[in-house]
Amino acid sequence: MIQNVGSNTAMMMKMEAESIIQTYARQPILLVRGSGARVWDAEGREYLDFVAGVAVNSVGHCHPAVVEAIRKQAGTLIHTSNIYYTENQILLANELKMLTGMDKAFFCNSGAESVEAAFKLARRVTGRSELVAAINSFHGRTLGSLGATYKPVYREPFAPLNEARFVPYDDDEALKEAVTKDTSAVVLEPVQGEGGVNVPRPGYLRAARQICNDYDALLILDEVQTGFGRTGRWFGKEHSGVMPDIMTLAKAAAGGLPLGVMMAAESVSGGFQKGDHASTFGGGPLICAASLAAIGAIEREDLVKRSDEMGRYLRSELRKNLEVEEVRGLGLMVGVELEEDCARIVNEALKKGVLLNCTSEHVLRMVPPLVVGREEIDHVVRVLGEILE
Ligand SMILES: Cc1ncc(COP(=O)(O)O)c(C=O)c1O
Repeated sequence: MIQNVGSNTAMMMKMEAESIIQTYARQPILLVRGSGARVWDAEGREYLDFVAGVAVNSVGHCHPAVVEAIRKQAGTLIHTSNIYYTENQILLANELKMLTGMDKAFFCNSGAESVEAAFKLARRVTGRSELVAAINSFHGRTLGSLGATYKPVYREPFAPLNEARFVPYDDDEALKEAVTKDTSAVVLEPVQGEGGVNVPRPGYLRAARQICNDYDALLILDEVQTGFGRTGRWFGKEHSGVMPDIMTLAKAAAGGLPLGVMMAAESVSGGFQKGDHASTFGGGPLICAASLAAIGAIEREDLVKRSDEMGRYLRSELRKNLEVEEVRGLGLMVGVELEEDCARIVNEALKKGVLLNCTSEHVLRMVPPLVVGREEIDHVVRVLGEILE
């Protein structure tokens, strides 16, 4: 527990333990407010947020344009069924087509759901059910997406699943050996997030594209974490120039509100028939208004370029000032490999007003809002230096 937890925080922590199924290992702070790259807890303490809702709050907490769009839309139309046309959904699909170069969108509510949609579409199009995924992958926790998520501790208690064949990431030869004429799709993250911020060699995704072509299998790029400027490009796929058959998006898609999107290329976008897939809340008017506003903010404020520049700055400052095993990443998706268990660092940083998290036992992950400034980066590097000493 950090410092003096106030009575309201203590009461809420007790109520949480009594009323919420205990699936999360939470930090002992009650967050009540956010702005830009900062959040405040119920005791009035300020934190620099280098977790950002785990790569969700890319335009910063409570971005004024997103807040305004939500306010306006909330007073006009919040929800209707997908039985009817709604304008924001259609405008957003069109915007995403232009940004991704893909053909059509399917809207849902989370990353795992976008992966589910992708797996279903891949089955429908290929008539095959086998999947190939990478060791250290993360694609979600629903039964379908869990089958392609690597960590055995996540998967094994829920067997049997439709388990993917797992191959080492960034290894063309292993992928070539695993893909067969029964493979429906190969699913890969352009940069592995939960698996430890692993950046593949430049040719890897191109090789994966070729292997999929050779076996008529689909290539699914899971851009749930890498999307919307996180890696210093609009989408992680742009670093390799590879076009997937299906792309999955979520996290930063709607300025902090829950939105998942599956984008399909022209060759597969006609694969679903009416009634094949659906989501009650998917692409509702409120969420899509927030998404359009968030995308507008990324464009106006040049946040993709900023992610690239600030990411380079963050990595170089970390390398210059800290003695760690490795600093890696692309844009503002940064991993710091440590010799020690990183839970201690996360707890110490929290006490010093910096939010960080671990992707694996030894990898500290930094995915701050893309609006983060140099002074804020300097502060976090200084705090980390103090802790590591
Ligand atoms: C690459 C990737 N895919 C899928 C997911 C699952 O997203 P969600 O938690 O929104 O279901 C995540 C979540 O961290 C992710 O990083």
